[in-house]
Amino acid sequence: MGDFSNKTEEQEPRQTGNVSRRNFLKGAVAGGVGVWALSPYRIAEAMLAGEAESRPIRGVGVEPGVVQIGSNENPIGASPRALEAVLKHMGSSNRYYRSNALVESLARVHSIPYTPQQRDGNQPRQADPILLAAGSGQTLQTIALTFLSAPGDEMVAAHPSYGSIERRWEADGGVVHRVPLTADYKHDLNAMLAKVNTKTKIVSICNPNNPTGTIVPYTEIEHVVNSVPKQTIVVVDEAYIEFVRDPGYKTSIPLAVSRENVIAVRTFSKIFGLAGVRVGYSVAHPSLHQRMLKYHYTNGIGVYGMVAAEAALEDYDHQNRSRELAIAMKMYFAAEFKKMGLEYIPSESNFMMVNLKQEARPIGQELAKRKVFTADADRRWGMKNWIRLSVGTQEESEAFIKALREILKPDKEV
Ligand SMILES: Cc1ncc(COP(=O)(O)O)c(C=O)c1O
Repeated sequence: MGDFSNKTEEQEPRQTGNVSRRNFLKGAVAGGVGVWALSPYRIAEAMLAGEAESRPIRGVGVEPGVVQIGSNENPIGASPRALEAVLKHMGSSNRYYRSNALVESLARVHSIPYTPQQRDGNQPRQADPILLAAGSGQTLQTIALTFLSAPGDEMVAAHPSYGSIERRWEADGGVVHRVPLTADYKHDLNAMLAKVNTKTKIVSICNPNNPTGTIVPYTEIEHVVNSVPKQTIVVVDEAYIEFVRDPGYKTSIPLAVSRENVIAVRTFSKIFGLAGVRVGYSVAHPSLHQRMLKYHYTNGIGVYGMVAAEAALEDYDHQNRSRELAIAMKMYFAAEFKKMGLEYIPSESNFMMVNLKQEARPIGQELAKRKVFTADADRRWGMKNWIRLSVGTQEESEAFIKALREILKPDKEV
């Protein structure tokens, strides 16, 4: 267990009000914040002490022994700074959260021109270029509700892809053009553009794409934006952007800031490890957000989400640790899949697709019996022989490979 007792205050200079981080965390537990807080506290303490990498932490946030690699979560947990912020704000749970700090920090970090507005409760809310949501899932839902409404409205998206806007619009009987990915599992942008017409309200690009982990370079997104009619909105879902290593890749936020028909969607659920507290946001021209406000519930994020996201945003150590783990585990999976003679899709994200060369659902069920949970690519995308797995810690990833070998029993390995 990490113990800060042999460190001086000078070595722990970051202050939490007038208490050092170390004393704050110790005090929070000693003061009886609650037994449930102990486990995240311990994780935070180990991470702050730099121990998280040297000792495997299995099953952070799930029951011991469970390997949950089916939902593209962060296996090492939340940023310790986020945990600290949540603990610190427990005492103000009885208050509505009133600060605009998260939006201001996002504007600064992404270089988005932004002037905080004086809010007047009697005036209708004016939209900003950043619109917070209770997870990016809420943002995508609001986008669908706002921009797809008339019976003739159409949208274009790749397939397989995350698909939440598509499902929402189809549930209302709307027209969705799903364009298959190319043979190397990338967006086929020319084929997507060929489906765009004057009725197209949304072109949706998931970048990196879930479930394939493939990416679309910035210049190609720019080409799509330049090619569609002015009233067609290009939505770029960047849920996994922080994991990308390809140097040709760039966020679409500058396009969302400079154009009137681009929405970039982000989340704190993935690299920041905050899936359970639900914080996401979109960046877009305020006129688009103004339209979205009609359908968007703006008080969906509680105080813990707000302060956790704000604290995690610039915790680059935690982001680097998370990205490096993802890179290392993807390399490990790739090597193991090669030995087993299995095809996989090289991914720029924190998950991977592997082709089991046989019906994957029974294999997924066998894995689940061993407490290893992966995503069913057949149910979601009709990819019968594939499973999607996200990276676990080293120990969890090894447990998955061991279980897969036991089930598949490959006769000869290469
Ligand atoms: C591509 C993509 N977008 C959006 C989401 C929604 O994430 P959240 O609502 O947790 O922000 C997910 C979740 O897995 C995702 O994979």
